[in-house]
Amino acid sequence: MKKIILSSEIEELSPEELDHVEQTLLSRAQSVAKMAYSPYSDFQVGAAVLLENGEVFQSSNQENVSFPAGSCAERLVLGYAGANYPNSAPVMLAIVAKRAADENWADVSPCGICRQTINEAEKRFGKSVTVLILTATGNILRVRGISPLLPLKFNDFFTNS
Ligand code: THU
Repeated sequence: MKKIILSSEIEELSPEELDHVEQTLLSRAQSVAKMAYSPYSDFQVGAAVLLENGEVFQSSNQENVSFPAGSCAERLVLGYAGANYPNSAPVMLAIVAKRAADENWADVSPCGICRQTINEAEKRFGKSVTVLILTATGNILRVRGISPLLPLKFNDFFTNS
């Protein structure tokens, strides 16, 4: 037997270490998170995307009484960007979350389907998406491209991907 060890590089930064664009993206995600429609989980997620053309869009999660019909914040904002700006690559995505009753920000990590959706944006535009994740400590995780969050993904095994 041979063991394959996978490793992922993730940077952790204090808020002061972020540049202006990164700070703007996080604050747009924080504002929109507070408008989440999440009566079933009371978990408010905000995602803000920066496109190559400089535009920024954001979305919160939108739930449904039929749970699978709800959607995560990340997929809504990437879907909007892809539908309306088919020629501008998403280059950065900020993700934040809090519980409705709390003042403080909570830890969050994009779900598997959202990781796959970020992967598709990278494939579609041929550009990597930097993911910023706000943590409960106030520090920010910065992940350069989806691969560290989605190792051994399906398209790693395509020669023409
Ligand atoms: N959710 C997101 O919007 N993004 C994530 O990265 C994690 C989970 C939403 C889905 C659901 O509305 C709520 O958070 C609780 O799972």
